Formats: sequence, C-alpha cells, structure tokens
Amino acid sequence: MKVIRAKTAGFCFGVKRAVNTVYEEVEKGVGPIYTYGPIIHNEEVVHDLEKKGVSVLNSPEELETVTKGTVIIRSHGVSRDIYEIIEKNGLHLVDATCPFVLKIHNIVQKESEAGKNIIIIGNGNHPEVEGIKGWCSTEAFVLESEKEAENFSYNGEKKLCVVSQTTFNYKKFNNLVEILEKKGYDIHVLNTICNATEERQTEARRIAKEVDAMIVIGGRQSSNTQKLFEICKQECENTYYIQTLDDLDVHSLQSVSCVGITAGASTPNNIIEEVQNNV
Ligand code: F3S
Repeated sequence: MKVIRAKTAGFCFGVKRAVNTVYEEVEKGVGPIYTYGPIIHNEEVVHDLEKKGVSVLNSPEELETVTKGTVIIRSHGVSRDIYEIIEKNGLHLVDATCPFVLKIHNIVQKESEAGKNIIIIGNGNHPEVEGIKGWCSTEAFVLESEKEAENFSYNGEKKLCVVSQTTFNYKKFNNLVEILEKKGYDIHVLNTICNATEERQTEARRIAKEVDAMIVIGGRQSSNTQKLFEICKQECENTYYIQTLDDLDVHSLQSVSCVGITAGASTPNNIIEEVQNNV
C-alpha cells in the first residue's frame, strides 16, 4: 500500500514551543508547576506531564486558590484577567502564548481602544476565542457559521473590526466576511488565520483528492483536527478520524491501494509514526 504522509501533519510551531516550554520547566525541577488549561488537546501528552508533576488548572476560580509556583500559559493564550490573577497571587508566569495569538490580542486591544466593536470569527467556546474576547474593551461578537452571519444584525454607531480564530477554515472565513460586507456594515477585516492551519488544510485537501482512504489523527476536542476531518471527508468519502492507532480498524483499509495521513496541530510525532508504520 502506498502511504502519503502530509508534511504539515502534527505539531505546529506554536504548539511545539508550548510543549517544549513545559518540559523545560519540569527539567528545572522547581515546583509546583501548573498549566492554565491542558497544554495541548492530547490526552497522552497531558498524562505524561501529570506523571511528571504538572497539574492542570481549569478555571479562574482554581487559579485563584494557587499562591505558590509557576503557571504556564498555553499557546491558545488567555484573557487579561488571568494575567491579573497570576500577578496578584505572586505566581511565576511562563507565557507560551503563540506569537500569532498574541498578535490578535494586540489588534483587538488597539482596535477597541480606538473605538471599534470587534467581531471574532471562530468558535465561541474555544479557549483561544475566550482569550481574545478578554482583550476587547468594547463589545465583542463571535460568529461561527454562515447562518449566524446572516442573522447578525448591528445598529451600533461604532465601526466594526473583524478578526478570526487562528485555526478557522480559510474558505469559511471568506464566506462569512462576504455575508457581512453584503449587509453594508463598515468593517475593517483582518485575516488572522495562522499560515500553519491554512497550509495544513490545503495539503490535506490535495492529498485527500488523490487517495482511496484518508486518516486524520488528533484529539476529539481539537477543533483544528475536526476541521481537517471535515475538509478531507468532502474530498474522500473514506476518511477516518482517529486519536491513536488503537482507534483504527486496519482491516477496513485492506482493499485500499493508496492512503493519506494527516494530523492536527496537537498530535505528537510518535503517534503519527505509529499509524504510518502500521497501515
Ligand atoms: Fe500558533 Fe498557528 Fe499553531 S497560531 S499555535 S502556529 S496553529
């Protein structure tokens, strides 16, 4: 069987940097160490870090109870309040927010200070979007679907600035912007989708078109993996979404002559290799 592995499969720059940061802090041997939210959407990595003594804080309330140690902020970034709690409690801050996410924080902070309301195109429940919202000092709206954009009605006097979650689908972002433009709103659009996502999506689409079956590897909670799956499924009906090799029914690939593999931004290399070596 021919196997085509996407060059862009797996950790992106921001995730690699965040995960390495945690392991570096562990090496220093100064505890306690916390990450604000799981460092990545990957259970294996999170469990490994737990074994090494790294605890996950899941809410501002939990963070409030911590008065000693190091708090690492993951690549998704956080709202301004979280930095304030860390400072107030005298904790050591290690900021692994991806620079591309920090850039969005700076944009929305400046644009809202300049008097604009903000539209974030993305998933409102995603921590990255929650973090971005937390840097807006004016009103912030979150739109995720064409339907939401169609239903969006705005009578405010303030101009609107549109940004996107870094991992949002590029095509869908353009569709939503087009819908907003047609409504005649005065919008200033900044496409803040990260290139890593765009490249991963484009490569996945190209490979999915060529192969008989496509495997997408990533955590169930990982929104960028879910989007990769959607894209691949559109091009290749025979697309499988797995977290690790254990989820793959290898027999279902028996009659397949060419299989493609891609993986979300939080999938470690060893998991991708294991799948690649066993299909
Ligand atoms: Fe950063 Fe892009 Fe990854 S925003 S965390 S390099 S997907």
